[in-house]
Amino acid sequence: MDRNLALEFVRVTEAAAIACARWMGRGDEKSADAAAVDAMRKAFDIIRMDGTVVIGEGERDEAPMLYIGEKVGHKSDDDAPALDIALDPLEGTTICATGGVGAISVIAVAERGKFLHAPDTYMDKIACGPAARGRIDIDKTPTENIHAVAEALHKPVGDLTVVILNRPRHADLIAEVRKTGARINLIDDGDVSAAVAAAWPESGVDLLIGIGGAPEGVISAAAMQCLGGDFQGRLKFRNEEEKARAKKMGITNLDKKFTIDELASGSVMFIATGVTDGALLKGIRMLPDGKAKSHSVVMRSQTGTIRTIEAFHDLARKPKK
Ligand code: FBP
Repeated sequence: MDRNLALEFVRVTEAAAIACARWMGRGDEKSADAAAVDAMRKAFDIIRMDGTVVIGEGERDEAPMLYIGEKVGHKSDDDAPALDIALDPLEGTTICATGGVGAISVIAVAERGKFLHAPDTYMDKIACGPAARGRIDIDKTPTENIHAVAEALHKPVGDLTVVILNRPRHADLIAEVRKTGARINLIDDGDVSAAVAAAWPESGVDLLIGIGGAPEGVISAAAMQCLGGDFQGRLKFRNEEEKARAKKMGITNLDKKFTIDELASGSVMFIATGVTDGALLKGIRMLPDGKAKSHSVVMRSQTGTIRTIEAFHDLARKPKK
């Protein structure tokens, strides 16, 4: 995969982040998401690729744009790279609508066929940083995983921080983690950022455990491939309809434990731009005279290079598409 593509893709998340940041705190999740989707869709057109959305805004009949299977990019010649795209134009719609912490615009890119085509269901997840890669196992108890990660990090369990989505479904998990003595960072939304944080040096978070969206799980696995961390997931279904959808997408074993390589493999890229301020990325700053500042991260699994990019945008000068 051409390494320069990673820098092309940052324009895509920047455009989406700037568009939805205008909706920050306005209590309108739908408009914020629609603005991000629209801007991302348009920005893809500048990239020379034969792209297919494999993780997107939903099925074709429920999402007008960036639906699963939609072709993106301009395929100007037969050599345009065939890429699969996993995207979330606004990860943390509620965060953006309330002006909370850590909304991002994100895409992950892989060569064709290298992402799991995950249905829009839940996924039980566990993620950790490079030092504990190979030491976590979603089949083990949270207590066992916490002890394994603490040992790998040469930390007492009491110094370990576990990030968990604050949901009633996690009551038992939270109680068990508290019993181990580990510290907890409960978050309201945004478990992609949380997974990245678990592998980000000095983020203050060591481990992510819990159930969140399955599409977000694939995007998180791509990030962990770039960061050298680890990730495992198992789909969680709420009803028969969700199971049928998974089967339609080619998943035969509904109880399968997916390793990081089964979720995202080969040469992958992860690109994200902050929408609202978070632990890793600053949100969009609206500056005087129609300018804006963005803060993004671009990572590639092939080299493990992590770039953070601050960009100033003169929005008044942007050519209209
Ligand atoms: P959205 O951006 O689609 O609102 O997702 C936010 C999020 O918090 C994800 O990060 C997470 O995986 C999922 O929602 C959790 O789902 P739920 O809110 O149903 O618990």
